[in-house]
Amino acid sequence: MQRAIELGRQARYWSAPNPPVGCVLVRDDQELGAGFTQPAGQAHAEVMALNAAGDATGATGYVTLEPCSHQGQTGPCVSALIDAGAARVVVAVEDPNPQVAGRGIAALRAAGIDVELGEGADQVEADLAGFLLRMRRGYGRITLKIAMSLDGRTAMASGESQWITGEDARADVQRLRAGSDLMVTGVGTVLADDCRLTLRADELPLDGDAKDRALAHPPARMVLDSKGRTPAGAQILEGGQATVVTAANVALGETVHTVELDADAEGRVDIGAWVQYLGEQAFNDIMVEAGPTLSGALLRGGWVDRLIIYQAPKLLGDDARAMAAMKFSALAEAPEFEINEVTRIGADLRIIAAPRG
Ligand SMILES: NC(=O)c1ccc[n+]([C@@H]2O[C@H](COP(=O)([O-])OP(=O)(O)OC[C@H]3O[C@@H](n4cnc5c(N)ncnc54)[C@H](OP(=O)(O)O)[C@@H]3O)[C@@H](O)[C@H]2O)c1
Repeated sequence: MQRAIELGRQARYWSAPNPPVGCVLVRDDQELGAGFTQPAGQAHAEVMALNAAGDATGATGYVTLEPCSHQGQTGPCVSALIDAGAARVVVAVEDPNPQVAGRGIAALRAAGIDVELGEGADQVEADLAGFLLRMRRGYGRITLKIAMSLDGRTAMASGESQWITGEDARADVQRLRAGSDLMVTGVGTVLADDCRLTLRADELPLDGDAKDRALAHPPARMVLDSKGRTPAGAQILEGGQATVVTAANVALGETVHTVELDADAEGRVDIGAWVQYLGEQAFNDIMVEAGPTLSGALLRGGWVDRLIIYQAPKLLGDDARAMAAMKFSALAEAPEFEINEVTRIGADLRIIAAPRG
């Protein structure tokens, strides 16, 4: 299962919207074949492993997610395993996709195949978090990434914020972007920084095939821009790939992909409507890199599943900008987080936290 988990990780840069799954087929302690999910519309991990194995009669399959039982863009993996004569299948996590949801396991058992569930489940739950959340609640994982100083400031009063953290932290962000399906910012950051939110081959700290897979499948990009203030010449619009989400019927030019969603009470893009749209678009892993206005709105509304903070050993002073627009009158009102990981990245710290509870 550990090998299947590691194989699944190789699919993380290109499998979206499908989950990055790994599969290994074993017989008499010999590996017969192994594989991981190919890009959407192509073979799933089980089929890759079966093709590599040739003859899998009597084999045990280790697969990180329940094999699919429905006809999607590709045929059901359950049928492929049954037809190949597999004797036993070990599954880490049941697929919450309503089209599967235990039916894959039931079909394997009905065909006389032994099925075990749960080995490696904690690791797979973490690796597939975005996909599993989307299947369980309708939209994927929302990660808010912020670069800040030791005193919690994210930009100078003038708006200058490039670069608070060092080169190593920025390279780490490139890797995180590569593992995301969608990058999001607010129009305030587009106006201040003319950001692109792209992957940059020379800064992406991946090697060989993983780098090729990541660069061939970069994350989509999106600006939340209620009134259509994104300038026509903004770098994020170059190439016509980014989506501008508005809360009004505004024309941004024929080459700009614009989506109008409901407005909230302040006339801004309604976050609930936006999140529903993210689910409809089947984004598993959404990463927000925004200024205090949008970051604050997401944190206040409890929309953030994971907070990734890069903290640089610098002090920016008390007129520099805060991380999030939020006001509380008592400590008891302060939202609480649980720190899951602290890692030193070059001269900076990377803190990964999740809302408590
Ligand atoms: N250190 C870091 O990690 C980091 C990262 C990014 C940016 N920054 C810095 O942040 C500064 C920009 O901050 P900012 O607060 O102006 O920009 P922002 O948070 O990126 O964008 C804010 C804008 O998003 C739009 N928006 C659309 N729907 C919204 C909603 N429901 N709730 C809130 N906003 C919504 C609003 O404009 P409309 O009402 O017109 O739609 C709002 O003014 C810059 O100085 C930049 O350098 C720092």
